[in-house]
Formats: sequence, structure tokens, C-alpha cells
Amino acid sequence: MQDASAQMAVLQFMLSGMKTTAVPSSIHCDHLIEAFAGADKDVDTAITNNKEIFDFLESAAKKYGIAFWRPGSGIIHQIVLENYAAPGKLMLGTDSHTPNAGGLGMLAIGVGGADAVDAMANIPWELKAPNVIGIKMTGKLNPWTSPKDVILKLAGDLTVRGGTGHIIEYFGEGTQTLSCTGMATICNMGAEVGATTSVFPYTEKMRGYLGATGRRAVAEAADAHKDFLRADEGAHYDKVIELNLSEIEPHINGPFTPDLSTPLSKFKDLVKEKGWKDELSAGLIGSCTNSSYEDMSRSASIARQAAAAGISTKSNFLVTPGSEQIRATIERDGQVKEFENAGAQVLANACGPCIGQWKRTDIDKSKPEENAILTSFNRNFRSRNDGNPKTMNFLAAPEIVTAMTFSGKLSFNPMTDSLQDKNGQDFRFEPPHGDDLPGQGFDAGRATYEPPSPTPTSDENVEIKVDPKSNRLQVLDPFDAWNGDEMKNLRVLVKVEGKCTTDHISAAGPWLKYKGHLQNIAENTLIGALNADNGKVNVVTDITTGKEGSIPEVAKSYKSQNQPWLVIADHNYGEGSAREHAALQVRYLGCPLIIARSFARIHETNLKKQGVLPLTFANENDYEKLSGGDVVETIGVKGIAPGKAVTLVVKKQGGEQFEIEAKHTMSTDQIEWFQKGSALNLIKEKVNQ
Ligand code: F3S
Repeated sequence: MQDASAQMAVLQFMLSGMKTTAVPSSIHCDHLIEAFAGADKDVDTAITNNKEIFDFLESAAKKYGIAFWRPGSGIIHQIVLENYAAPGKLMLGTDSHTPNAGGLGMLAIGVGGADAVDAMANIPWELKAPNVIGIKMTGKLNPWTSPKDVILKLAGDLTVRGGTGHIIEYFGEGTQTLSCTGMATICNMGAEVGATTSVFPYTEKMRGYLGATGRRAVAEAADAHKDFLRADEGAHYDKVIELNLSEIEPHINGPFTPDLSTPLSKFKDLVKEKGWKDELSAGLIGSCTNSSYEDMSRSASIARQAAAAGISTKSNFLVTPGSEQIRATIERDGQVKEFENAGAQVLANACGPCIGQWKRTDIDKSKPEENAILTSFNRNFRSRNDGNPKTMNFLAAPEIVTAMTFSGKLSFNPMTDSLQDKNGQDFRFEPPHGDDLPGQGFDAGRATYEPPSPTPTSDENVEIKVDPKSNRLQVLDPFDAWNGDEMKNLRVLVKVEGKCTTDHISAAGPWLKYKGHLQNIAENTLIGALNADNGKVNVVTDITTGKEGSIPEVAKSYKSQNQPWLVIADHNYGEGSAREHAALQVRYLGCPLIIARSFARIHETNLKKQGVLPLTFANENDYEKLSGGDVVETIGVKGIAPGKAVTLVVKKQGGEQFEIEAKHTMSTDQIEWFQKGSALNLIKEKVNQ
């Protein structure tokens, strides 16, 4: 879990009553560090500003035997690759780029906090069986091309939706030519095509990486089972794509979407055709996607050539090492010096500008101007890096980014174009080069991890630190168990029309700082929902006063009067993400039941986990018969069983009354969650038995 998503996951786990997590778990402080004044200062500032969050996570980690990686230790996916990933294992991570560990032959899946709670609390975790795309790799990359270009090209071919519902499995002799960290880069960005995860077969390079990171025993175990750690002969794929690595050239993707892919040789023409200003304001390398020893070494080889030719950078140049181990190793081996000589600022080992934690000072935020940046990161949605919607953010390999900062021009092609050296002569870069593993081994750097790997021990006596006055963290109270009776006198709070994603139910943006405080984040409940009765967003009538108010206001008012309420929803209610807050919040505010035309599967399960009963209309036209303010009663919740319909008695405000049929998809286990008030209540009961 990374520090942003870990908060609610750990708060929920606390409700399980378990002494330690059911599977080995770790927390990584990487998202909450803002890039501004340089590595050490930025980490110190983050520790001050987020003290309560870090203290909470650290104390909870100690109590439950969770590994805790302090601020400054590095980015979750890099640390996982260096310490935990192993061929043939299965891992869940509460971050979409978790599949990075596929570079070590692991099935690593990005999930929401609720899924992490399942794994930690021993609740069965489910995933709709994905299809498999096979990618057959042949050939070998050219010197200017890197693994990043493989996935940049694939993103263009597959588009951002091409991998949805699929695992991408790489196979073929080309896989043997790639470094372990290069394969991790490719798997990392499988998230950009929507893939469930991506995985490579176990290779010699993986063996070398495991040895270099102190895990020879893991390599030996993988060697002993290597026939299982690759695609079966004649395996059937739902789709096969052939990729000749020798034919791939560097690519630049963007702006604003990772699948707008342009080969480097054509990018100059695109800049002209689009009329973009031919200026590069900043180049950023590193992040969880591209901060391996190989990436840093190849990029430094470019900086070294420029230094020898007396050429300095023309754009701002920022370097984010992925981990303390990488930072210390490239400092010892000289790459940091080479970057700094080129004018680079080396940032903290953290997400920083990749997640908008970039206090950019070279652009006036009050007058956002169009400008272009080039990053070796993985995502480039509008405003993602610096909050400026006019910043055009392009993605490329780190060596290409580095070379282009020495030109300062967007149209520069380092493979073919020249710069002027200190004597006014034409200078052209040689292809980058660099080792995938450090000759002298890795330097672990400063101690940022406690207790020592690999097995943290739990300590029941540790007190979890949550300030009751905090507005960012709040210990959760268990939800009440079902009273065993039919639901009576439920008031329709809102009848939602059209699309209602988890973002509409629990908005992100400024609300993210309240992720660990259910009461505070509940202030955003359904604020994006369109009310079918009045055509307004986030406006409903409070039936007790007759006045209009926002959805959270009226929900809170009902809660204070012990008035349970429900939501009537349209199709695919809760689509979008696995954000568990969307289920927790409605439940917290007093909603035990939601009736929809249909649910998004993950959100429906999340509702069940929190003890909310999700029903669908047996006849979806019955949606039209209900409106805000109606009173609903159930017949059939008592004695609820898998596959058995529930009847709803609807009383309109005018006095009219009728019955409609509703269905549910609860299994026997899930019915127990509902009966106990939540899945975690059930776990707690079992723990206490
Ligand atoms: Fe962090 Fe960006 Fe990776 S936010 S986890 S560096 S995608």
C-alpha cells in the first residue's frame, strides 16, 4: 500500500480485530512528498506537513506486523521490485502501477484499498477471470531504443482501453534480451492500456537481478521451477501480437493521453503540423517507471557526452530516483554528479512531479501558459504533473528526455540532429549505453526501513497514533449489524439519472486529503450526482423541511433524525474505480439500501462488504415509478437467500402505494456480511470466537 491509499485500508483493517495481517504486507511513504527545494529538504517538509499520517501508518505497521518504508525510502514499485517481487507469486498493490513487478515474473495486480483489506483480513478476494493477450517478442532493441519505447509503441497500437479485462503475457526469444528492470518498465505501463496486469517469463536477467538485490535463494527456487514460470508450449491466447524489437524506434507519446504515440522520426513534423511552440520547458526523468540503474546510467551517458562537448541543458532538468538504493548507488558511481553538472536538480526518492507534487516556480500559475514538458513517467493526463491544464506533457524514454533537454527544443531528434559544441562545431550524440546492474553491487544507502527485512513482527502493545482532533484521520466505528427485521420507512434521498461513477459518489481532487477521515470525506457524498427529479447536480429536497439542499447536507440531516435513506440509481451505478470510500460514505451517512437499474461489479461488491444491500429492479422500467421523497419498505429481507427476490413497497408522497420486484446477487457469505453489518464485523466475530 502506498501512503495515500493505505490510510483507509489500515483504518478498516483495524476493525477486523486481527492481531496481524493474513498475508505479508507493506506500507510505502512516497505519494505525500512534494518536490520543491531538493531531496532532503522536501522529505523534511513532507514529514512535518504529514506527520500525523506517517505517525499513524508507522504505529499501525508496528502493531500489525506490516513492513513500513519511511518517507525518503523510495517509490512503492521500485522498492517492491528490489525487495519483495518474486517469479510465480501473486501480489495485490493499492496503486495502478503495481504490475511493475511483472518484470520479475510476478502476477502483480493494482487494486483499491478494499481489496487490500480483503487480502490482509483473509476475506476471499475476487477478480473476474481476465482474458490473455500474448505478445510474441522477437529480435533485439537497437542502441537508441529502450524498453520504454516498446510500451510507448504498444500503447499507441492498443489504445488506453485495449488491455481492459486482459492480462498481457510476453513470450518469445525477444524476452531474453531485455533487462529485468526494462521488463518492469513495460509491465508498469501496461496499466496505461488498461491491462489487469502484465507478466514476463522467468529469464537469466531476472536471475541476475535477484542475485544483485540479495535474493539468491529466490533465484534458486525459481531455477528449480523454471518450467512453470513461462508460457506453456502452444498456449492459447485470446489475441496474439507480434513484436519485432529490432524494428522499434524511440517514441514520444502525448500530450494528455499515453496512447497518442509518435515515432521520434516523425515527431518534428507533428510539432510543425500542430503549430506547437518549439520549446521544451522541462525534462523529468526517473519515477517508478524509469529509474533503474540502467535508465540512470544510459541517461548519464548522454549527459557525459554533452559535458565533454561543453553543451549545457537548455530546459529545466529534474531527476527522481526510484529508491534510496538507486540514489545511493548512482551517487557512488558518479551518475548523480553527471546530472548535477548538467544543471539537474535531484529530487527526493518519491513520486513528486509524477503525481502533481511539484511546486513549479518557472511558470506563473495565476496565468497558466502553454508550455511543453517531457517526462519518463507513465501517465500524462492533463494537469497531472504541475496542475497547469496548459502544460503539454509528453512521455519518452529517460535517455531521450535527457538528450532533448540539451537542445531545449521539442522538435530535436537526438538520433539525427546536431547541436553546437563549445567550439561552434556540429555535435551529435552517440547512442546511450549503460549497465543494467552496478558492477560494484548496489549500495543500500541510508536506513529508511525498520524493522529489518524480511519479517516484521507484530506488537500488540503498540498504541496506534490517531489524534481525536485530527481532520485528516479518524478511527472507524464498526457499522451496526442488521436488526433482523424488514427495512421500514426508508426515504429516497435522490433518484440519480445517468452516469454515476465512483468519482460522482466520492470526488477526488481536494478531497483526497480526507481519505483517512470518513466523516470529513463524507461531505463530498454524491456531489456529482444528477437528480432526475429536478435536473440539477447535487440538489435535493429535504422532505422534512421542504427546502432544497446539497446531497450531503440533506443526508446528514436525515442521519441526525435517525431517518434511513436510500438511493435510486440508473445503469452501471458506481462504475470507474474500486474506491471504497464510495461505499463507506453512503453507509456512514445512513443508507442501508441502493436500488439501481444495474451496478458496476466492483462497486456492488464494495457495497456488500460495507453492509449495504444492493438491489436491482426486476423490471428496469420501474425506475421511472420512483422519485425523491418516496418511502420504501422491504418484504423479503427477512429470510433473504441467494437468488430469492425482494419485494419493495413504495409509498408516494401523494398517498399512492404499489409494490415492485427487486433482485440481488448476494451469495451465502455475502448475506452474512449484510447480517453482521459489514464483512469486517464478520471477521471480527470469527477472530473473537
Ligand atoms: Fe508514484 Fe507516479 Fe509511480 S505517482 S507510484 S511515481 S506512477
